[in-house]
Amino acid sequence: MKEMLIRLQQEADKDLAACASEDDIFAVKVRYLGRKEGRITMLLRELGKIPQEERPAVGKLANEIKENLEQRVAQAQSTIHEKRKRDYLAQEKTDVTLPGRKARRGGLHPVTLVLDEVIEIFLTMGFEAVEGPEAELDWYNFGSLNFPNEHPARDMHDTFYLGKEMLLRTHTSPVQIRTMEKQAPPVRIVAPGKVYRCDSDISHTPMFHQLEGLMVEEGISFSDLKGVLTHFLHRVFGEETPIRFRPSFFPFTEPSAEVDIRCAVCRGKGCRVCSQSGWLEILGSGMVHPEVLRIVKYDPEQVSGFAFGMGIERIAMLKFGIDDIRLFYENDQRFLEQFQ
Ligand code: DAH
Repeated sequence: MKEMLIRLQQEADKDLAACASEDDIFAVKVRYLGRKEGRITMLLRELGKIPQEERPAVGKLANEIKENLEQRVAQAQSTIHEKRKRDYLAQEKTDVTLPGRKARRGGLHPVTLVLDEVIEIFLTMGFEAVEGPEAELDWYNFGSLNFPNEHPARDMHDTFYLGKEMLLRTHTSPVQIRTMEKQAPPVRIVAPGKVYRCDSDISHTPMFHQLEGLMVEEGISFSDLKGVLTHFLHRVFGEETPIRFRPSFFPFTEPSAEVDIRCAVCRGKGCRVCSQSGWLEILGSGMVHPEVLRIVKYDPEQVSGFAFGMGIERIAMLKFGIDDIRLFYENDQRFLEQFQ
């Protein structure tokens, strides 16, 4: 029995020395000291089988070996734990002599730059900037804007539907209705934001930005529309830029006009960019249709107004001389860095 105990101790020593991890140590602890099947535990159970006179000495030795092993297991555990902590801290150490990482200066996206500039011009004219939802009801995107059901004008918008009643707004015009529903005239707002159409080529992306404008109060006439938009376009494109108003159609305005600026590329001579016309269409506008005013419970006998809408990417392309709208959304740093 004594020899077995001593051999057991030697084996335990060897196993313990070979441990590389906390798990290994735990396995040794279970193997020798486990309450049920531990080798020392089992040997101690045999104590009753040896002659009475030898029992005290063997028992004492067995207990010493057991306690000793318990101690060493505990120590090995704490050593390995400490070592892990030390390794971790060493690895974490900050080398304060290393050169710092340079923080690179970012810049605003060209679409944001143009939006900010355009909004600012209207703010100085007394307009207020408001926003509306991008997931919109069919009613606000079309119905309330005097698009009859089944009207082909709805098809022109290549709408993304989210369900029977919901869609991704195809223009910012629904914000006109939402604003007039909430407040009485006078109204002077611009509404910037994202709009969505199922379309993609060098001049269309499925998401782009528009800025809507609306001014309604007593005595607003078409000359107010012309004055405000002329002032605006001269500030964005320069005082000398020729502008023309061309009759057009929108269901929610009557009369309606599209506004062109002289082509900045060919200066009016005619080129590929302006399809040889010498002019570039820059926004849609018109006098708010009396039916639209009635829908929001304004009295068309009392108040009148004008509205306009423009594509921000298109303005940015003309301002910066960009010939493919998709460049705005490819996130190529070489492109974006030029606007810092
Ligand atoms: N919502 C029109 C579009 O996306 C643009 C527009 C035209 C807005 C005339 C207006 C407007 O407010 O009066 O094509």
